[in-house]
Amino acid sequence: MKISVIGSGYVGLVTGACFSEFGYEVVCIDKDKKKIELLKKNKIPIYEPGLGDLVIKNTNANYLSFSSNLKSIRGSKIIFIAVGTPTARRGDGEADLKYVFQVCKQLSKLIDKNDKPIIVTKSTVPIGTGKEIIRLFQNLCPKLKYEVDYNIASNPEFLREGSAIEDFLRPDRVVCGVANPQTEAILKELYRPLNLREAPVVFTDIESAELIKYASNAFLALKISFINEVADLCEKVGGNVQMVAKGMGLDNRIGSKFLHPGPGFGGSCFPKDTRALYASFKKNKLKSTLIKAVIDFNEDRKLKMVKKIKILLKSPYKQKKVAFLGVTFKPNTDDLRESPSLVIIPELNKIGVDIHAHDPAFNKSFEKIKQFKKVKWKKNIFDAVKGADMMLIHTEWNEYRGIDLEKIKKLLRNKVILDLRNIFNREELENMGYSYSSIGKK
Ligand SMILES: NC(=O)c1ccc[n+]([C@@H]2O[C@H](COP(=O)([O-])OP(=O)(O)OC[C@H]3O[C@@H](n4cnc5c(N)ncnc54)[C@H](O)[C@@H]3O)[C@@H](O)[C@H]2O)c1
Repeated sequence: MKISVIGSGYVGLVTGACFSEFGYEVVCIDKDKKKIELLKKNKIPIYEPGLGDLVIKNTNANYLSFSSNLKSIRGSKIIFIAVGTPTARRGDGEADLKYVFQVCKQLSKLIDKNDKPIIVTKSTVPIGTGKEIIRLFQNLCPKLKYEVDYNIASNPEFLREGSAIEDFLRPDRVVCGVANPQTEAILKELYRPLNLREAPVVFTDIESAELIKYASNAFLALKISFINEVADLCEKVGGNVQMVAKGMGLDNRIGSKFLHPGPGFGGSCFPKDTRALYASFKKNKLKSTLIKAVIDFNEDRKLKMVKKIKILLKSPYKQKKVAFLGVTFKPNTDDLRESPSLVIIPELNKIGVDIHAHDPAFNKSFEKIKQFKKVKWKKNIFDAVKGADMMLIHTEWNEYRGIDLEKIKKLLRNKVILDLRNIFNREELENMGYSYSSIGKK
């Protein structure tokens, strides 16, 4: 079975590489010619553990190939659309579907009824988009018959950056939104290798599949915000938020995941997907107080972190230096989209604080980010910490967990640590003579 994946970013590339691992013939397509040229040379344009090996192995075995020409979809039984759906520049936070519709328009000229392809949206798209796509194809290719010559389906993706391969190959579930039994049969066949590993493949109608993705992300975002709010109460009146989270998480109805307090959620999904879900409520003239509260709380959270830093740094701030460890929104990724650091760092720069940053995933593109234009990037942690008034943990990369704290102590000007991810033990640090602050402890 030949599969095409249009859009070779985090999701498209992982999807393509993983399906090729099952022995399908996969072509990953992207309009970004530079990206495709890199991939053809076995160079991976993103930081994702394990992805490079998988790509090399399957291109060498001729299961996986890359193309910047959409005509390469020819002969595909399944065509995935995995392009970005960012927040629209104007409006109420709705998803910008222009890349998805661009692809659909281009595809409408290329569909071959002999292939009877299924066009599957893997991109996260609002409820109702599948229907719009069907209408678009019916208008653009009136000679082809929907459900006879081609089909449309929804197959939202739940992988997480940093553990994307494992998530794809061992998912909690696969969700497929279909409109007829023939589409269901082919997608069942496609996911048979995962089903054999006992991953549940859930079939729904197209709208439900679209909404499952948004509802799941919004629920996880709410869970994070909930524990962040509980952390604030602990800081004021006592209690240890980690113990609270542990006690809550042991309840099977709640579960322990996504109960880690921090500087607020970021990344390429939760912020834009909560906004888009809220916009769907608004568009349909429904009120959503819960989702709006999550969005507002999370925006406010980042500024709250700035206040926390200012208190510890103590005025005057001018020329105070902060060693900022980790700038990505989570470890094991180089993705900076909507990372809290993009708000915290410029706010600190505004009041004259110098940021010396380190991130294990640092690459030249970090220097081009406008919010980071004043940041001094350091190749190792100790260079960042030297002479600093505070060491701040923003992202919980593993290499920060085991850091040589005796050495750090000698390098810091002020022995202040602000741990926004609770990776250290307070007692240990205080015994070492540090002034240590974290999240959710008085
Ligand atoms: N990143 C994640 O962790 C994640 C997880 C689950 C779902 N998603 C969803 O998956 C979708 C893709 O996300 P991503 O992070 O992979 O995005 P991305 O920005 O990393 O990649 C999108 C790719 O699509 C390409 N593209 C855009 N228009 C194209 C066109 N007309 N033809 C060919 N290629 C085109 C871009 O050049 C880019 O390489 C989004 O809807 C996102 O919400 C993302």
